[in-house]
Amino acid sequence: MQAVILVGGEGTRLRPLTSGIPKPIVTLVDRPFMAYMLQWLHGHGVDDVIMSCGFLATKVKEVLGDGSDYGISLRFVEEPEPRGTAGALKYAEEFLQDRFLMLNGDVLTDVDIGAQIAQHERSGATGTLGLVPVEDPSAYGLVLTEPDGEVTGFLEKPGPDQLDGVDDYLISAGIYVLERSVLDLIEPDRKVSIEREVWPELVGDGLYGYADRDAYWLDIGTPQRYLQGTVDILAGEVRTGVLDRLHDGLAVDGEVDPSATVLAPAIIEAGARIAAGATVGPGAVVASGARVQAGAVVERSVVLDGAVVGEDAVVRDAIVGPRVTIGSRTVAEQETVLGEGVQLGGDNLLSRGVKVFPGATVGDGAIRF
Ligand code: GDD
Ligand code: MG
Repeated sequence: MQAVILVGGEGTRLRPLTSGIPKPIVTLVDRPFMAYMLQWLHGHGVDDVIMSCGFLATKVKEVLGDGSDYGISLRFVEEPEPRGTAGALKYAEEFLQDRFLMLNGDVLTDVDIGAQIAQHERSGATGTLGLVPVEDPSAYGLVLTEPDGEVTGFLEKPGPDQLDGVDDYLISAGIYVLERSVLDLIEPDRKVSIEREVWPELVGDGLYGYADRDAYWLDIGTPQRYLQGTVDILAGEVRTGVLDRLHDGLAVDGEVDPSATVLAPAIIEAGARIAAGATVGPGAVVASGARVQAGAVVERSVVLDGAVVGEDAVVRDAIVGPRVTIGSRTVAEQETVLGEGVQLGGDNLLSRGVKVFPGATVGDGAIRF
């Protein structure tokens, strides 16, 4: 089976994590995000993947290589300029088979694609959209369907008034089974959105939805959801290869002082050091070369490569980028995101989604937000 994965977006909502790195290869728990998608696809018999790239394609290629680590043949197609979700597919036309999967490149999921393909075949659809339930559909593509799955409406990023009378919020999961004939609906050589221009045109003409209400599904495209994904992977809410590493929810490969506390689920990578009296977890990843100094707390958070969390500092619900330093007693919480190399002095308080961009320096006691 063949799959096209769209990874050409700039990942702006995940900045500063994506300031220098494209979203598909941002580290999630212990591997580049795309590894989860490739492992999931491989598990459903996908052996041929076309990555449709734009932004920082060279870095994506460097990290993922030819796909052999994942048992997949991986090829890259680079658009001359961002062509939008449908334009990107059109641009890859010469590589596509009669039937293929198309995926948004930022979904962490264990949706049963095999069942989706089986339904696609049974219904004779031109396109079958994977659907998942959400509480708030406003950031997604809302899909209205008949009981047999036929799509009767597609509303991308619906406003409040468009939700009147809708009581089942099924959204497009960014997982599509498509017949090659879909390409005929896309004009070449221009920017085209599959959500705004193609799906609405296909409504009533072979567009179906396959709802998977039990699967795990998350678009990792914001810091809040990136953290959610981290915690969910650690807790085993979604089936991933990370679970193979955990014993009673823990993988402790780094050095932990005997007086420190590690609470499951947590991963402390080789080369990380946890000092006396520190507490790490639950829901924490301390990457290789990172240090958590004496008395510090790291909870529901990620501390990436080479970062240092100072004495008695608190990192809670936060993302600490590679090589960040956090001074003593500083608190970083409530979805604070610290970009690569940020240097925070001591006695600061960062909360409520503050984002500090790569390389910035903040003095002692300079921020109470
Ligand atoms: N090659 C290429 N070129 N890829 C692109 C382009 C482009 O011009 N624009 C976006 N992409 C890729 C992104 O990298 C991402 O993997 C995917 O297409 C979807 O773009 P997002 O920017 O993440 O869209 P979204 O999350 O707001 O909405 C989409 O996903 C939702 C599910 O997460 C839509 O497909 C919604 O309908 C859907 O519900
Ligand atoms: Mg997205």
